This record gives sequence, C-alpha cells and structure tokens, in this order.
Amino acid sequence: MRFPPQFLDEIRTRLSLESVISKRVRLVRRGRELTGLCPFHKEKTPSFTVNEEKGFFHCFGCGAHGDVIGFVMRDEGLSFPEAVERLAGDAGLALPARDPRAEQRERERHSLYGVVESAAAWFEAELAGARGAAARRYLAERGVDEETRAQFRLGFAPDSRTALRTKLEKDGVPAPMLLQAGLVIAPDDGRTPYDRFRGRVIFPICDRRGRVVAFGGRALGDGQPKYLNSPETPLFAKGSLLYGQHLAAPAARKAGRVIAVEGYMDVIALHQAGMAEAVAPLGTALTERQLEALWRLAEEPVLCFDGDEAGARAAARAVERALPGLNAGRSLRFAALPPGQDPDTMVRDIGRRGMVKVFDDAIPLIQQLWRMAVDGRKLDTPDEKVRVREWLRERVKLIPDRDLKKDYFQQFLDQLWPSPEKALGSKAKSLASENPTSRGVGLGIGTDGTPLRRERALLQTLLDFPDLLIEQGETVANLQLETERFRKVKDAMVDWAESGSEPDGDRVRKHLSDRGLGGVVEELAEANTHHLNRANSLADARNTLAHALELQRLRVELPAALDEAESALGDEINEENWERMQEAIRRKRDMEKVEKELPDDVGRSPTGGA
Ligand code: UTP
Ligand code: MN
Repeated sequence: MRFPPQFLDEIRTRLSLESVISKRVRLVRRGRELTGLCPFHKEKTPSFTVNEEKGFFHCFGCGAHGDVIGFVMRDEGLSFPEAVERLAGDAGLALPARDPRAEQRERERHSLYGVVESAAAWFEAELAGARGAAARRYLAERGVDEETRAQFRLGFAPDSRTALRTKLEKDGVPAPMLLQAGLVIAPDDGRTPYDRFRGRVIFPICDRRGRVVAFGGRALGDGQPKYLNSPETPLFAKGSLLYGQHLAAPAARKAGRVIAVEGYMDVIALHQAGMAEAVAPLGTALTERQLEALWRLAEEPVLCFDGDEAGARAAARAVERALPGLNAGRSLRFAALPPGQDPDTMVRDIGRRGMVKVFDDAIPLIQQLWRMAVDGRKLDTPDEKVRVREWLRERVKLIPDRDLKKDYFQQFLDQLWPSPEKALGSKAKSLASENPTSRGVGLGIGTDGTPLRRERALLQTLLDFPDLLIEQGETVANLQLETERFRKVKDAMVDWAESGSEPDGDRVRKHLSDRGLGGVVEELAEANTHHLNRANSLADARNTLAHALELQRLRVELPAALDEAESALGDEINEENWERMQEAIRRKRDMEKVEKELPDDVGRSPTGGA
C-alpha cells in the first residue's frame, strides 16, 4: 500500500466529516447524527446521515456509504490516492515519503506491460507470417475478416516449446519477468521454462485503457482445453476485466447499451456485425467487479445467456450478484438465446437486425428474478405463494436502495396476490405474462380484509369439513375471533368435537341450533353459498385454517414489532434500526396483502337462497 494506515488515520482525525461534508451539503443535527439532502442522488427529504462518532456517512436512499476519504472520492470523482492527497493538503499534512519497495514494484509493473506488449506484437506477426497459415485459414473459416482481426489484435502462437521465450530473451527480457507475465510455465522439477501458448490462436486481453495484459489461446481444432488463458498476474485480474471493453466503451456510450456475452468469439462476431458494444467475462461467471464495469458503460447492461439449463444457472448467478449493486439508475436485462446457439452463430444466421431485436426483447431483471422464483411452480396454494414470497424477500433484501427494494417487493406481492382491478387492468405489464400465476384459489378465507368476512369464511369452512374440527380441535379452540356471535359458534363447535361425535355437517348444525345458534348458522350459509370461493377439499380446508391462524398471530405481533422498531429508530438512526423498521413495515403491509388475498367475486354473483 502506498499510504501507511497511520497516515490515513491522521487525516481522518484532523478532518471531521462535518467539516468536509458541510461544504457540500447543508447538514442539520438530529440526535447523534447530522442529516441532509444526499449529494449522490436526487431527493426531496433528507436521507443522508453523517455519524461523526463512527466516522462514516450513509445515505438510506441510495446506499452511498463511506468515510471522509470515500466522500471526497465520490463527490469529486477522485481516485483514492487523489482524494488522500487533496485531504492531506487540507489537513496540512505532508505526504509520506514513498516506500522504495513499492516504487520498485510499480516500476516492474510498468515494464511488465512492455513485455506483454512485445509478446502480443510477436503473436500478431506470427499470425501474418508463414507459420500462421493454418490459423489464418481457421479464422477465415469462422468468418473473421482482416479488419476485425487487426482490431482485436488476434495472433498465433506457433507450436513450439520455446519460440516466444527465445525471442523475448534475445530482446533482453529477464527470465523471471516472462514467468511473472504468465507467458512461460516453469516445470516443478526445475527444468527450463517453456511457452504457455503453443499452436493456438491468440486473443489478447486488454485492460480498460487498451493495454494488453493477458492472452486467451484457442486450440485450432478439437484440442483440449479449447481455451487456455493467462494466469492471474500483477497486470491481470480476471475478475475485474471484460474482454473487448476498450473497444466496446465508446460504442456502448453511443448506443446507450452494453451487451455481455459468454465468449471471445461472440464479442468478435458481434463487433464485426456492427455491434461493438459487446463484451465478455474471461471464462468465468460474471463477478461483481465486472458488473460494476458494465454499469459504468450503460444503465441497463444486457446479459446474454444460452437458452439451456447452464445458461439459466449462469443467469441466476448473475442476478444474485447484481442485486446488491442495483439502484434507480442501475439494472440489468436478460436475453436468452435458443438452446445450442451462441451470439457468434446466431448473428451469422439472423444478421445484425435480428440480433438487435433479440437484445431489445431482453427481459428486465425483475422479471428474470420472478421467473427464477416461480420456476415451474403452479402457485395454486397459499403455502406455495408464501414460499415464493419468502424466497423473493431474501433476494429483494439484497437491494440496498430503499425505494427500489420497496418497488420490487410490491410488484412481487401484486403478482402473487393480484387485486381484481390490477389483474384485469394491466395484463401486458404483468411480470408473468408468459408464466401466469393462477390467481387466488378458493380457500374460503376472508376476501375484504374485515374480520367479519374472514371469520365467517373460516366458520363456513369448518362446517363444510367437520373432520377438521376433530383433527385440529385444539387449534380451533385457540382461535380468537373478534365477532361475538361467531365466537359462540366456534365454542359450540369445539364442544361438539370434544364430545367424540361423528364428523357429520348436519349433526354439527343441529348441535348449534340446539344451543340457540341456528340464526348464525343460517347467516353463514347464506352469506357464503354464492359469494365465496369455498374450500373444496379437506386439504384446502386445512390450509384455510392454517392461514387464519397465521393471520391471527401476525395481527397481534406485527403492530407491536412496528412500534418497537419505530421507537428504536427514534433513539438512534443507524442501519440496523432502519432495516428493522423497514422489515416491520414490509411485514405489516404484507399481512394486509394476504388478508385481501382472494379475487373477490362478492357483489357480482347472483343473490339467492340456499
Ligand atoms: P464457449 O465454450 O461457449 O466457447 O466458452 P465459445 O466462445 O463459443 O468458443 P468457440 O465459439 O467454440 O470458439 C465461452 C468462454 O469460456 C471460456 C472462454 O473465455 C470462452 O470464450 N472458456 C471456454 C475457457 O476459458 N476455457 C475453455 O476451455 C472453454
Ligand atoms: Mn461459440
């Protein structure tokens, strides 16, 4: 590291967050924190807080977070050393003397670029020369034209153990540097190192600035492995570079789009077809750093995967990695290709315009996430829906942006439990246009959220399925009903179940009339017969009961949790308390949703007697 930690601490001690941030943001004290309008996203109410004690700022709106150095980096768009230098100046601190060993390493890194560049130039010359004939033919057969070849600086490594090593050593490159650059492999037994790439087409891998830092080498035929890549070196971190990035960046900014495909050849084929905004990871799944790089190029990178199972898995991994990085201006889209096709083969079949259409049709991340959650499930029971909801909740939690998180979850809830107007209204916008969820099914649980309706439905279910009374007498006994006459009916039902009688609906009704509850029984029958989706199997009825119990528990628990969270947040605004509050609100809203779960046909069905 270039700056010793004590030096950085000294900066942090000398410059309070307040002194630095208040130059940019009007801060108001609120308890232990300072708050203000976040400078990193647009907002009307302050969600930007500064906690001097802990030494960080945090925006609950966009998730921006960091210490005083981080603030200046973000605010002024400086690199870390630049921000440190700036702040050191403000704090009246002299920059520490540079570490000579670090300097040495820096110099070496620089000359390592030179070594790798010489290798690239040599591979290029080899492709153009006598030994490169077969490789030239190979590329021509794959439809790579000369201009593209030159743009990507494609090359050829002849099938020789020492050709490259010999050439570079003759140019005065010290042997250890060849090893460091990943160009040669040193056998464990101490014999002389040999060239890593032999008999392969060479795809130079460049960093953001277009400097060659590594190579991928493809076998000309069916040789294994198909692709061989440079190892990680001081110049090459696989996980943070994208193949083709230096060529794609200007095109991506112009097109307002960047496309991530899987292979080198895909990038090259798309580029040649006029879509220079294509990049690829380097033989691994997309990393967070690569996603960051994509987001620097466009707000909504399109990730392109094979239409097979492996592609679906890769897409799922990308979704999980992307969620923590999402915000209002950063999302993804997913394009699935037909099984067995890759962009390289496809663009040749359907041309540029066809490909553009494939990318334009890419589905938004939220829909991809929904597909992953549903994945063949029928969503025809509340349990199933709740499972899907919980799975989604775990994912949505990863989104740091408060509003976005809320929007995502709300959309999923709407999808799982559509309200009738919405379900009829914007069908086209539905997340599941191709994977329709069955709308609510007849479980006989309250349809308008009022206890009266809900309790009536529950009792009707118990009357329809008296087996349940016997099977789950204890549970039923513990139900707390708010409506007094229903409570009486329930108690009488429990009495009946405990008397060990046959589970027979008529007998239960008689038992109830005998206790003066005949009127209520009629009310139940009338209110329900035509208006309610009734449970039509014992299993459904069991669900209804379980559901009612869960709601009952939540109705008590959630408001209490919300109160507590609110008061905790009042005591101290911190991430944990904020999360807790959000969670409480979410759960409460969730419950309200569940209470209104079913499509409601009340009021539209014919009236009439039993
Ligand atoms: P693919 O197997 O999909 O190859 O690997 P491709 O790009 O379609 O290659 P062609 O068309 O047969 O030439 C996708 C990417 O995975 C990495 C490479 O980066 C490749 O571009 N890979 C693949 C490896 O690193 N090693 C391998 O053996 C295979
Ligand atoms: Mn391919």
